[in-house]
Amino acid sequence: MSGPTLRVLDDLDAVARTASQWIHDRAWAAVNARGCFTLALSGGNTPRALYRRMADGPRLPWDRTVFCFGDERNVPPDSPESNARMARENLTGQPFVNQSSVYRIKGELPAAEAAADYESTLRTLFPGTTTFPGFDLILLGLGPDGHTASLFPHSAALADRTRWVAANWVEKFRTHRITLTFPVLNAAAEVLFLVSGEDKAWALKAVLKGDAPISEIPARGIVPTTGRLTFLVDRAAAAGLST
Ligand code: 6PG
Repeated sequence: MSGPTLRVLDDLDAVARTASQWIHDRAWAAVNARGCFTLALSGGNTPRALYRRMADGPRLPWDRTVFCFGDERNVPPDSPESNARMARENLTGQPFVNQSSVYRIKGELPAAEAAADYESTLRTLFPGTTTFPGFDLILLGLGPDGHTASLFPHSAALADRTRWVAANWVEKFRTHRITLTFPVLNAAAEVLFLVSGEDKAWALKAVLKGDAPISEIPARGIVPTTGRLTFLVDRAAAAGLST
């Protein structure tokens, strides 16, 4: 598998615009080829602009798109911290999105229960899968500490090679998160990182140029088995790459 593709763009708006077109093209290609497009959304702040652009931009095959999530906070769906809420307010809550094709992680449940529940949901979406489900596209962000999804440095879920979804204790936040595991993230046909802002420069350099262990920089564990890996980043986040 060739290494990741890196695209450095002017700013977050350019990242959102490029990503929106990227997803549009992948969605129609998947639907034309297989009748369905499976997309795992990322949380945090960076994808907000992208979700708004997807909602306002060229029409996607909404009725053929299955929306899942890469991770969630251990909070109810109306919490300001909820990734499902963020996505709903910017994209999945739109009238043209079929609500029955939006599969959120039930962050309101105890974390282990939420993880088991979501794994069984994914198993119904990917029937007959004996290994790990192959999403058409997984969106990921990058934390300033090198975490991605809710795979944080020195956290237990980094070592999970059997489950599809894990409840992960995050010491620095003193809370659990629910996250897709590395085997699922790496089974995708395509993984797209969106990275914006100077506070991500250290982590992005560590991911793309460093050799730190995955326990320290979890995003270095994203190496798709057969799929493509692309980083759409802005100049501020890429600032460390030239040094
Ligand atoms: C989450 C995310 C997480 C996020 C990074 C970057 O639930 O927070 O899934 O992995 O992508 O923390 O977050 P920002 O985009 O907010 O910088």
